Amino acid sequence: MKIGIYPGSFDPVTNGHMDIIERASHLVDKLIVSVLINPRKNAGLFSLGERIDMLKEATSHLANVEIDSFSGLLVNYAKYKGASIIVRGLRAVTDLEHEMQMAQINKNITPEVETIFLVTRAQYSFLSSSAVKELALFQGDYHDLVPYNVKDKLKDKFNKEDVKWITADAVK
Ligand code: PNS
Repeated sequence: MKIGIYPGSFDPVTNGHMDIIERASHLVDKLIVSVLINPRKNAGLFSLGERIDMLKEATSHLANVEIDSFSGLLVNYAKYKGASIIVRGLRAVTDLEHEMQMAQINKNITPEVETIFLVTRAQYSFLSSSAVKELALFQGDYHDLVPYNVKDKLKDKFNKEDVKWITADAVK
């Protein structure tokens, strides 16, 4: 069984991520979308549980996609899960330097795990979780950029008084 891992922060999952998840799910028998557990407290907008729930709901139509979370080194987690492929999306050349470095470090530590890159559809090349959060914070239109369930969650988050003070630092 060919198992792939699509790791990320997913704070929150966007339609760009969904594009990669759907396409990667056709390339492997099982795709594990795994959310990085950030050791820094209060990091990000959504909690780990919220990110996982949003991903589960948004991918419920994809039978071979499983949602999980991990901490520590990605390659150790991949080995633990029996995965031979790490999937990453590339939006533009600006992503390449960082992604190549991560892939090369991972390859160096664990030669048996391959990183593959899927090029994001052009319509999502500008899209990031950070951009979506900024649009939501400043009441911009982000409706075509995230799955329907994430739209509602963002609306809830930014309608609450207690996040009105959120600073640019908090919006990754
Ligand atoms: O969505 P992101 O934030 O671009 O995802 C980054 C992620 C989670 C893939 C990366 O930070 C990661 O793999 N973290 C785990 C630590 C690790 O294995 N680092 C070694 C590569 S430098």
